[in-house]
Formats: sequence, C-alpha cells, structure tokens
Amino acid sequence: MGDDVSLAGRTVLVTGASSGIGEATARLVATEGAHVLLVARREDELDRVRTTIEVAGGRATAYPCDLTNYAAIDALVERLLAEHGAVDYLVNNAGRSIRRSVALSYDRFHDVERSMAINFFGPVRLTLGLLPAMRVQRFGHVVNIVTWGVQMKAPKFSAYIASKTALDSWSRVAAREAYADNVTFTNMRFSLVQTAMTAPTEAYRGHGATPEQAARKVLKALQKRPIHVNTFAGNVGELMNLLAPRLTEWLFHRFDRRFPDSRAARGDDAPAATRPPGGAGSGARPRSG
Ligand SMILES: NC(=O)c1ccc[n+]([C@@H]2O[C@H](COP(=O)([O-])OP(=O)(O)OC[C@H]3O[C@@H](n4cnc5c(N)ncnc54)[C@H](OP(=O)(O)O)[C@@H]3O)[C@@H](O)[C@H]2O)c1
Repeated sequence: MGDDVSLAGRTVLVTGASSGIGEATARLVATEGAHVLLVARREDELDRVRTTIEVAGGRATAYPCDLTNYAAIDALVERLLAEHGAVDYLVNNAGRSIRRSVALSYDRFHDVERSMAINFFGPVRLTLGLLPAMRVQRFGHVVNIVTWGVQMKAPKFSAYIASKTALDSWSRVAAREAYADNVTFTNMRFSLVQTAMTAPTEAYRGHGATPEQAARKVLKALQKRPIHVNTFAGNVGELMNLLAPRLTEWLFHRFDRRFPDSRAARGDDAPAATRPPGGAGSGARPRSG
C-alpha cells in the first residue's frame, strides 16, 4: 500500500456518477483504462455520462439504482457480482447535504433520516454487499466522499455531518478488520466543490474546487490508497477541537450567529420567531458540502 496501482483493466464503481464529483471521477478513471460502473437514480444522465466515456474510447456500464432502497441495493450487488465477480474499487460518492440549524429542525426528524439514508445506510449496505468478494480476491479499495465537516463540526450541518461521520468511522473500523486481506479504505474530507449541490448557494459562487479538480484527488486516492485525505483547514479545525475545545465552541458559535439559516432552510414565509437566536437576515445557503 502506498505505491501507485494501475487502474487499467480494473472495475471501478462510482455512485452518484450522474453529476458533479461522481461524474468527473467516472470520466477521469475511464481515461486510466478502468471499466467504470456508473450508479445513480437518473438513468438518462447515467446514459449521457456512459456515452461521453465511450466516445472518448473508455469503457463504462450504467446501473440505475436508488441507494436509499435496500432491495434495490441488494439486487444491484447481485447483478454486479454476477457480471463482474468482485468489484475492485468502490467510490461511495452519492450523497445529499442539508444546511439547517437545530432550532429549525425540532419538527424535522426526517432531515436526519434522509441524511442517514443516503450518506450512511446506503453506502454501508452497498459496501457490505461487495466486501466479501473483495476479501476473497485479496484486493479492494473503497473511497468515501465525506466532508471536512467531519473534522470541523460546523454549525447548521448537524444531520449531514453526523451521517458523514458515521460513514467515516464505520469505514475506519472495517479497514482495520480487512487489513490482512489487502482491502483498504480512504475517507476524503472535501471542502467546497462547485457542483449542483452548492450551486443554489449564492455566497459559494466562485469559491471552491471544480469537480475535475476534486476528481483528480479521488483518482490519486484510488491509486495510492491513503487512509484519509484532509484539507489544511480541516486539520486546523480538528486540532482546535482537540486542544482548545471550549474556545473553539465559542468561536464556532460566533460564526454560527454571523451566518444565519437561508430563506430556503427557514421556509420563505416563516415568521421571524422561528429564527434561531442571533439569526437575523437571510443568507441564501440552502446546501453545501
Ligand atoms: N460539493 C461540495 O462542496 C462537497 C463537499 C464535500 C463533500 N461533498 C460530497 O460529494 C458527494 C457528491 O456531491 P456533489 O457535490 O458532486 O453533488 P451532486 O452533483 O448533487 O451529486 C450528487 C450525486 O448523488 C446522487 N444521488 C443522490 N441521491 C441518490 C440516491 N438516493 N441514490 C443514488 N444516487 C443518488 C445523484 O444522482 P441522482 O440524482 O441521479 O440519483 C448525484 O449523482 C456527496 O456525497 C457530497 O456530500 C460535496
């Protein structure tokens, strides 16, 4: 582990391959000679990505699947194992982000449920389905696209960060158990990437990496198989949480008050009384990584 491994002739399954980081990753990985297995719900978008890859001389197959549907995941696993034997690489990228303060979430337990459904339960079920064959063939690598929020614990992302942290932690434990079978895991704690997920957020425009830049990092992680890929800011946040937890709590609280919930998160016509303390004004920040 650590040396570059060629992806040529390998199967690389990318979830959320119909747009954003997943699409860019699928296209890039195909140029390395891998057979890319594209998973997402939108069949037409998957076909578009598959055609683009094939026109460029690459190899791809589309597998439409709703990764919040357990029966659909199980059927997908069965089909993948029948058609390819073990999948060599799995990129758990499909996900959704919700930015909403806890004060606006007292009656929105479904935000927690839907975050966990796609960011944790779906990828874990898919990984559990593919892991045994990886271990038998004594090769496999799983890349999880998580977020720097795992280290930062940024306010207003409670459900999102908790669900990504769950996947991050689950994978670390699984990696320790699968170590001897040469099956490895990378948690990629990305900061902002300009995708459909962040596009509605005006304040984020012009900031962050492009999907292609993010994809280059994913490719490197597939080749080098590091345990995690962090940002400098994420590392600083993690260190602050460790070394000065009370001060960091206060700093993040100040930050939280400065950037209130978006109009979308409040509901456009929500009365001011439902706004969290200090949450005056409206930043348009419905979603982000
Ligand atoms: N953009 C950022 O700033 C940022 C930062 C850190 C981490 N991330 C993470 O990066 C990943 C990719 O996000 P992105 O920014 O590239 O956004 P995106 O363009 O909106 O991509 C999300 C992908 O997830 C798929 N997806 C969503 N729900 C699904 C479901 N139930 N079943 C199957 N596929 C589903 C979508 O495809 P369909 O709609 O076709 O199903 C789409 O391909 C996410 O996990 C996100 O949390 C993003």
